[in-house]
Amino acid sequence: MDIMEIIKQRRSVRTFDGKGITPEEQQKLYEYVQQIKNPYDIPVHFMLVDARSEGLFSPVIEGEQFYIIAKVPGGPHSEEAFGYSFEQLVLYACSIGLGTTWMAGTLDRKIFEKVADLQEGEMMYCVTPVGHAAAAMSETEQKMRAGIGADERKPAAELFFDKDFATPLAVEEEKLKTALEAVRLGPSAVNYQPWRIVRDGKAFHFYETYNKALHERSEWDVQKIDMGIALCHFIGLTGGTCSLSDPGLACPEDTQYIATVTV
Ligand SMILES: Cc1cc2nc3c(=O)[nH]c(=O)nc-3n(C[C@H](O)[C@H](O)[C@H](O)COP(=O)(O)O)c2cc1C
Repeated sequence: MDIMEIIKQRRSVRTFDGKGITPEEQQKLYEYVQQIKNPYDIPVHFMLVDARSEGLFSPVIEGEQFYIIAKVPGGPHSEEAFGYSFEQLVLYACSIGLGTTWMAGTLDRKIFEKVADLQEGEMMYCVTPVGHAAAAMSETEQKMRAGIGADERKPAAELFFDKDFATPLAVEEEKLKTALEAVRLGPSAVNYQPWRIVRDGKAFHFYETYNKALHERSEWDVQKIDMGIALCHFIGLTGGTCSLSDPGLACPEDTQYIATVTV
């Protein structure tokens, strides 16, 4: 599959056709998740669950028959690892014609966590419905997309920088341009797009510009999941290597270092 084409095609799907997914599609998802890895080497465990028999639903989703639930050990980099691994599944689902929606907020966590058999020390940050998109979006979905501005993304000049946070990045090389565009197009919680990148030669330092309200809402950081998605897209297109090599740059307010990808 051409990853960039899939990244461009993907959108959150909140209205499904009500028909579920075939046993062949279930098998493909099952096989795909077996080989999913992330640079943090933190295992993410996926489950495909029948929505009706387990009583799973979301107030913003219609016509879904299945959910994918995932859990991961908590601790340092747990969110980034989860984001990285889960996004691989989201992109794979899209490549075989299945719609998904990352969901961290619009679900009754207690019900999903019970189905996931969540143990002490495990985290179930997000889930997604999975299925075929309906021909038309529900009114709820249309309103949600408009409210969040889901079709919009920040311009590259606000996201990518050269050596410090003051100089917008100009990239010549086609492969790197595409990889940065892949980061820019990624999904994020409330479409806040927290990713910032500062380039220094072959090193691309990833930073999170976090939203205080979201931060204060929970003990874990949903925007670090967005950062895992950004790393997944960038590494998927560059084949770069991920490390923790904080260059100690002066950061804007509410911005923190996450990881470095060396290309
Ligand atoms: C970590 C994360 C959590 C999200 N949580 C929710 C959610 O709880 N409910 C929902 O409807 N969408 C959720 N979304 C989807 C975003 O709103 C969506 O990705 C964004 O608006 C961009 O739209 P698009 O995915 O169609 O490109 C989440 C996305 C991410 C990455």
